[in-house]
Amino acid sequence: MRLKVLGLASSPRRHGNTELLLDQVLAGAASKGAQTEKVVLCTMTMDPCDECEACYETGRCVIQDDYQLLYPKLIKAERVVLAAPIFFMGLPAQAKAFIDRCQCFWARKYVLQDPLPATDTGEQRQGYLVSTAGGPETSFQCAARSLKAFLDALDGTYGGELTFRGVDEKAAILNHPSALEEALALGKAIASPGGK
Ligand SMILES: Cc1cc2nc3c(=O)[nH]c(=O)nc-3n(C[C@H](O)[C@H](O)[C@H](O)COP(=O)(O)O)c2cc1C
Repeated sequence: MRLKVLGLASSPRRHGNTELLLDQVLAGAASKGAQTEKVVLCTMTMDPCDECEACYETGRCVIQDDYQLLYPKLIKAERVVLAAPIFFMGLPAQAKAFIDRCQCFWARKYVLQDPLPATDTGEQRQGYLVSTAGGPETSFQCAARSLKAFLDALDGTYGGELTFRGVDEKAAILNHPSALEEALALGKAIASPGGK
């Protein structure tokens, strides 16, 4: 059975550095037989979590917007790849709003003690960070920690990251000597059982 790889493009800049890397990751995964899907968060309507705590009763988010389309995809995917530029040392608002809406998974796990069903393949859910930062010394730690907390709520594990510093202009990543190949290789690796 084919693994499902869900790519979340979270930059507000279409076809920028992180989305270009994500495209390569998904191409690599598809080349190994994975079923891939890219979701572009900035094209979706997604309010932030309003902390109403309704999900503590049902495990579902009550805000009716495009997040509802993502919820079943997150349950099904064996691999989630978050492509996110570093904004003010952390995730951009689009990624953070999405992750905050996943409080319903946290509620399901920790309040309702209602574990997610196993994936169709029985593979452990794994998440990966693909990121770029304009600065030469910027840390990816804050972004990675948010992603790890999200993965814990999803009962998944952190598979690793592919990050590049000093990449600022739109599509500057195309001038990097190895980034696209590294992204392709990551995609191939995560499409295999056990992940990277
Ligand atoms: C609002 C904003 C905040 C940013 N904050 C940082 C930062 O804290 N550190 C850094 O190194 N680069 C920062 N950058 C630069 C981006 O991380 C960089 O340009 C990145 O490659 C953009 O990726 P994208 O094309 O996928 O959006 C910032 C850019 C913007 C627009």
